[in-house]
Amino acid sequence: VLALVTGASGFVGSHLVDALLAEGWRVRRLARPASPPVPGAPRDAVETRVAALDDAAAIVRSGALADVDAIFHVAGVTRAHSAARFRAGNVAPTAALLDAAAVVAPHARGVLVSSQAAAGPAASRDRPRTEEDAPAPVGAYGASKREAEALVAAHAIGARWTIVRPSAVYGPRDRDFVPVFRHAARGVALYPGTRDAWLSLVHAPDLARALVRAATVPAAAGRTYFVAGDEAVAWPEVYAAAARAAGTRVRWAHDAPRWALAAVGAIGDAWSAVTGHDTLAGREKLALGAPRWWLCSAARARAELAWQPATSLDEGMRATRAWYRAAGWL
Ligand SMILES: NC(=O)c1ccc[n+]([C@@H]2O[C@H](COP(=O)([O-])OP(=O)(O)OC[C@H]3O[C@@H](n4cnc5c(N)ncnc54)[C@H](OP(=O)(O)O)[C@@H]3O)[C@@H](O)[C@H]2O)c1
Repeated sequence: VLALVTGASGFVGSHLVDALLAEGWRVRRLARPASPPVPGAPRDAVETRVAALDDAAAIVRSGALADVDAIFHVAGVTRAHSAARFRAGNVAPTAALLDAAAVVAPHARGVLVSSQAAAGPAASRDRPRTEEDAPAPVGAYGASKREAEALVAAHAIGARWTIVRPSAVYGPRDRDFVPVFRHAARGVALYPGTRDAWLSLVHAPDLARALVRAATVPAAAGRTYFVAGDEAVAWPEVYAAAARAAGTRVRWAHDAPRWALAAVGAIGDAWSAVTGHDTLAGREKLALGAPRWWLCSAARARAELAWQPATSLDEGMRATRAWYRAAGWL
């Protein structure tokens, strides 16, 4: 069986490539002209086709979709300083890939990697968001991911596609959690606004297995799934687990005040606008960080995909730290 993967050079995409190869798939990537190599995978294990992701005709011409059994659209933009950039990176490529697939691979199964941000946070600690709740996207990022979901649902071949909304993802090759590990190893925890904020987390290899299930379980066609680990985790527990992985514990914790974060966000946005570089400290990230309960339920994925997370938070944090150390990131 042959899979086409977009976003293979990225964090989630590279773990998906690992999972597909481990399960015996042939893997082809659709790369952009400027894409770096796929980290982790042996160089000759992945076939590469190149096209601009927002150009359906170019995707067809590249031959990327010939004979594929499954299409995994993982590519996306998670950091940008304008709504236009989020849309350009998350909406236009989804439209082009669907249009190209309708011509060349209308019977292939498809998986769109969306995000919890397209659905919105939970209303309270004990009511994690489910797929039945009406979407309430957060920020320009969430809006762009939601728009991509709507394209899939409305498309002529959309009934062959599955939408997966991962919670926050952590694991080897991820850059966002590096500061958490760095601080925690020194016994320090810095909370964005309040420490009483909760999130769902999933370890990248667990998410990758769920994506493969989404493309292969017949009943998953046309469905939407949250994918997350079992535990609702408060930020102090994230730092505590990162500290345990380093053989230490948190001795100094601090809630960064919201006004300070807002100021940093404004500075980040201004810097991005002037330099053209996208910064994580933009107001967009603050919008995503504001809700207290980024919790979702993976009950539907567990039941319908016969999937379950295999990694506890402590195991995942230990594996992540070990990888960061081996790679020289810590
Ligand atoms: N990380 C998380 O916590 C998380 C949570 C929920 C959902 N997601 C979703 O998962 C997907 C992958 O995210 P990720 O965390 O793996 O991000 P990432 O490491 O930044 O990877 C994204 C990949 O998308 C491709 N891409 C396409 N257009 C791009 C552009 N204009 N700029 C930069 N890269 C572009 C690149 O792959 P190529 O070079 O191979 O084209 C890039 O490596 C995204 O759709 C994201 O919305 C991530």
